[in-house]
Amino acid sequence: MSESDLPVPSVPNARDAVRALRPSQIREVANAGFGVADVLPFWFGESDRVTPAFIRDAASAALAAGATFYTHNLGIAPLRAALAEYVSELHGTTSPDHIAVTSAGVNALMLAAQLVVGAGDRVVAVTPLWPNLVEIPKILGAHVETVALGYGERGWQLDLEQLLAALTPGTKMLLINSPNNPTGWVMSRDEQRAVLAHCRRHGIWIVADEVYERLYYAHAEPGAGDAHSRTAPSFLDLATRDERVICVNSFSKAWLMTGWRLGWIVAPASLMDDLGKLVEYNTSCAPDFVQQAGIAAVQQGERFTQELVLDLKASRDYLVRALSSVPGVDVKAPPGAMYLFFSMPGASRSLELCKALVREVGLGVAPGSAFGPQGEGFVRWCYACDTARLDAGVERLKRFLAQHGTH
Ligand SMILES: Cc1ncc(COP(=O)(O)O)c(C=O)c1O
Repeated sequence: MSESDLPVPSVPNARDAVRALRPSQIREVANAGFGVADVLPFWFGESDRVTPAFIRDAASAALAAGATFYTHNLGIAPLRAALAEYVSELHGTTSPDHIAVTSAGVNALMLAAQLVVGAGDRVVAVTPLWPNLVEIPKILGAHVETVALGYGERGWQLDLEQLLAALTPGTKMLLINSPNNPTGWVMSRDEQRAVLAHCRRHGIWIVADEVYERLYYAHAEPGAGDAHSRTAPSFLDLATRDERVICVNSFSKAWLMTGWRLGWIVAPASLMDDLGKLVEYNTSCAPDFVQQAGIAAVQQGERFTQELVLDLKASRDYLVRALSSVPGVDVKAPPGAMYLFFSMPGASRSLELCKALVREVGLGVAPGSAFGPQGEGFVRWCYACDTARLDAGVERLKRFLAQHGTH
């Protein structure tokens, strides 16, 4: 029998855990918009503004100087030092030994999960939530249980007792994202204190996704002084650096660097050797010239970030006012992140609604169901853009509702 006579194997599949991952519903809506000539995209979590020039210049200079080689797995020493200083100023003393540079926040989340969870482990996540946080542990074979925020008069709120009850002694990891994507909910310091004490008692890892920590509006005043007024409450304010707390952060949001893929982890020093191995086998390192741009961002970017926060706060308030005038829309101004997560006629089937919005009037917003079943009934609108574009979007929303007879 020749080799060509051997039976052809059946069509290959990825393993079950991968096949079971949920595809992105935001992508599904974006795909529905292909072929629509003029779409206003508010569906992704990024500003329409380019990264500031001083950061792009630093990358260009690093490239011109030949920064094109592999670096240390945990990042170049000057960036780890700069990040240690930045984190220390905001959240208390942190040494470079507690910092690892990553290829943005999503890679940091994968590394954190790889460090602490394996097949069969129980993970708890507070939802609605950016889907990557829930799906990443599933790739590793973990079981993810969710605790839903509730929506009421005061916006999105955590039922602390419910969360503590879900954090049973056998639980391996709590995933918490505050300020939260998509709701803008911010966990209070008292809630963090209670959760930390509970997790300490039961040996549960806390993986805190704080990529939106700077996009916090409760204290955003011009020239804000002390550190606490410049960030949302952080687990780093309460935890020691050598306990079961891993904090994930990113350059994407505070310095408008989404396309650069640069982030960092604050974690116990005892994890760093193992984390270095995981970085090696995932990405090996972040690009050198990108890391050098990161130094410029951290060391020279404070004024930029503070101004950005004021702009975002103004955009948030502008869009809340504009949407409040639309009959049937229920919207509240959340204290953090860069999204409004609101209900409107038709949102009980949010995926269908968002596809119709993009097809019929070229309005690109994300369906609440993309953020888990608890997000159904809502849509998410990223307001990180100028007011003229927000106005145009609200006009399209009104036109859609008028065409559907719901005004
Ligand atoms: C909650 C949350 N965490 C992490 C990220 C990761 O962002 P990046 O990978 O660009 O750092 C995002 C991006 O939107 C996010 O919304």
